[in-house]
Amino acid sequence: MSELNNIALTVIGNGKGILAADESTGTMTKRLDGVNVESTSKNRLIFRETLFSSESMKNCIGGVILYDETIKQSTTSGKKIPELISESNSVPGIKVDTGAKVLAGSSKEKITEGLDGLRERLKEYYKLGARFTKWRAVYTISEDYPSKLSIISNAHALARYAALVQENGMVPIIEPEVLMDGNHAAEDCYNKTSEVIKRCFEELILNKVDLKGTILKPNMILPGNKSQQKISSEDISKLTVKCLKESVPSEVPGIAFLSGGQTETEATENLNSININNNTNFIMTYSYGRALQQSALKNWSKNIEDIKETQAIFNHRANMCSLAAQGKWSKDIEKQSN
Ligand code: 13P
Repeated sequence: MSELNNIALTVIGNGKGILAADESTGTMTKRLDGVNVESTSKNRLIFRETLFSSESMKNCIGGVILYDETIKQSTTSGKKIPELISESNSVPGIKVDTGAKVLAGSSKEKITEGLDGLRERLKEYYKLGARFTKWRAVYTISEDYPSKLSIISNAHALARYAALVQENGMVPIIEPEVLMDGNHAAEDCYNKTSEVIKRCFEELILNKVDLKGTILKPNMILPGNKSQQKISSEDISKLTVKCLKESVPSEVPGIAFLSGGQTETEATENLNSININNNTNFIMTYSYGRALQQSALKNWSKNIEDIKETQAIFNHRANMCSLAAQGKWSKDIEKQSN
C-alpha cells in the first residue's frame, strides 16, 4: 500500500470521518457573529481547542481540516494544535486554496485561486504537521450554469493543486461543490454534479495524480434549497450513489461528503441511507463543517468557559455521524442517546 493511500485510509476508514474546521477568518467571524461571540483570534482558538480535545476525536474523527491561522496556534497549555490532533490518532489537514473569486469570462461564477506560491506553502504546512489538504471549487446551478468555462477551469485548478500536494507527500481532498442554492430539481443536481466530477477526474488523470492517494469531497444529490420538490432520504441516497458510481474511477479509496447547508440530522440521515445503499467499493463518510459544529457552537456561545457540555454535544454529533458512516444510525438511536 502506498504511503498516500495509507494516509487516506487512516483519515476516512474504520467508521471515521473528517471534521472540517477550516473556516476562513471571514467565515468564522460570520458564524461567531451569529451567536454573539466576538471573533478574536483567542475566541476562535478556544472553540476549536474545545472540539479538538473532545473524547470523540479518538473514534470518530480521522482527520481535521484546519485554517492557516489555527495550524500555527498553540493551546493555552502550550501544545501545538497539530500535536493536539495527532494525540487522538487523528490526522491534521489544511485548507490551501485562497478562496473563490469572480471568474473572468463568466462574471456570475467563481474560480478558486491559490496556485501561485502553493509549492512553497505546502512545504511549510508539511513541516507544521499537515498530511492532507483541501481545495474547494464552487458551482451554481441555474439554466445557464455551471458554464463549460467554470467546469473546465475549476477542474484544471483542482488537478494542478492535487499534483503539487502529492509531490509534497500529502493527500489532496478534491472538493467540487455544486451548491444547494436555487430552485432546481434533484435531477438537475445529478446531471450537473456528474458533469463536474467527470471533468475533474479527466484533469486529475492528465496531471498524473495517483488516484489511490486522493479523497473526493462532493455534495450529495439534493434538490435546490428553494425547490418545491420533496424527496426522501432513500431517493437522495440512491441518486447520490448512482452518480458517484458512474463518475468516480474505482481507484479512489473514498468519498467524504460536505454537508452544504443540510441540518445536522438531515446530513446524518442521508449519509446513513447512502451507506445502506452503497453498492460500490468506495468508503462513504463525512467531512462536515456545519453539520458537526452547529449545536456545539450554539451551546458554547452561552458560556465559553463551559467546555464539558459543548464537548458532550459535539461527541454526540460525531458519534451519530460515525454510525451513519457505517449504515448503523437510526432515528431511535439519535433520540435515545441525546
Ligand atoms: P459544510 O459541511 O458546512 O458544508 O462545510 C464543509 C466544507 O468543508 C466546505 O468547504
